[in-house]
Amino acid sequence: MSALPAGRGARRTRGLAPTALAAASLLMLAACGGGSLSEGGGGGEGDDSGPVKIGLALPLSGVYSSLGEDMEQGFQLYLDENEDQLGGRDIEIISADEGETPQTGVPATTKLVTQDQVSAVVGIVNSATALGLKDTFVQSEVPLIIANAGADDLTTPPSPYIWRTSFTNGQVGEALGAAVAEELGGDPIYLMAADYAAGHESVDGFRESFTAAGGKIAGEAFTPFGTTSDWQPYLNKVRSSGAKAVYVFYAGAEAVNFVKQYDAFGLGDNIQLYGAGFLTEGGALDAQGKSALGVRTSLHYSNLLDSERNAQFVEAYEAAYNEPPTVYAVQAYDAAAVLDQAIESAESTDGAGLAEALEGVGEIDSPRGTWSFDENHNPDQPYYQREVQEVDGVLGNAVLGELEQ
Ligand code: BEZ
Repeated sequence: MSALPAGRGARRTRGLAPTALAAASLLMLAACGGGSLSEGGGGGEGDDSGPVKIGLALPLSGVYSSLGEDMEQGFQLYLDENEDQLGGRDIEIISADEGETPQTGVPATTKLVTQDQVSAVVGIVNSATALGLKDTFVQSEVPLIIANAGADDLTTPPSPYIWRTSFTNGQVGEALGAAVAEELGGDPIYLMAADYAAGHESVDGFRESFTAAGGKIAGEAFTPFGTTSDWQPYLNKVRSSGAKAVYVFYAGAEAVNFVKQYDAFGLGDNIQLYGAGFLTEGGALDAQGKSALGVRTSLHYSNLLDSERNAQFVEAYEAAYNEPPTVYAVQAYDAAAVLDQAIESAESTDGAGLAEALEGVGEIDSPRGTWSFDENHNPDQPYYQREVQEVDGVLGNAVLGELEQ
């Protein structure tokens, strides 16, 4: 395992802020006479001489804003490493704020397709927002490269216009179930998650493999997404249920509050906390501090993954942003790598041309390990069990091993 990285510094020390990026792009569009208000199928102008317009739809506000910031940094790093080009073409980025829910994310992202006429969109953190956008992309024939949202239905059945460089929520939960059943040796577990598609799918995936391996469930609770600030009533139920462990799905600001309250309520010492790895990722772990020590999670990445490719990526990312990379940054970095290959081989760079080229994308040389798309357009990839440990005064997600799938 590679050494734990130096402590996190101030976030974003390099690269344009997304809002500045958006303003710059819109100015450029106005100067070029672009930004047509027409609603057109096919997406993008397919102009094979000028820059290729790519939409970046990420949460810049709300409980998932830190995830959006990491993703913007990951995408930008790939551009920095490739002279601001993808597939040998100049790129024009047009940013949109996904916000917290479909009420903000669906209209902001739809505008990228109908008004800005981008050739493809990268991003989308929230599963409910992605589900609300799927038909727009399919009907407009513009590819959406999902760089986080894990809802299973987004890629089942697969569409030529929907691709994903992240994970499915069910897979992340399912990967951990059998290992936890073995660790608990028949003791019951309590399940808890944010009450929307991602939370339910994560818990369903975990429950399936956990019970198949003989695990017992003590109870379950789903907490209102984005509005829960006090978990004490739910933690009371955990305590009285007789559970010896808890599995949860929380990310971003919800993950911070949940883990801190779990520890402050005195559960941390007696009832082992497990979760999908978003629980202790990046800025969430920074804010949780020592209250997260010992939390065990499943994920397809840790910045502590021991490989030459990851060490090279971590070094470049830390040099650019003065903080270690996260899974969110890697997913967006890889989305840029996917577009790099697709644009390189595309016969035309409008939406339909890029969708066709995406079918031919091969292996992605990723910091998480080399992966390629499966038949549903999701990454075919391993998942790891991780544990929050402190080494030389720095907290990180140490990799315990690869999980059997
Ligand atoms: C989701 O909505 O699918 C999601 C959001 C944050 C982290 C992981 C998954």
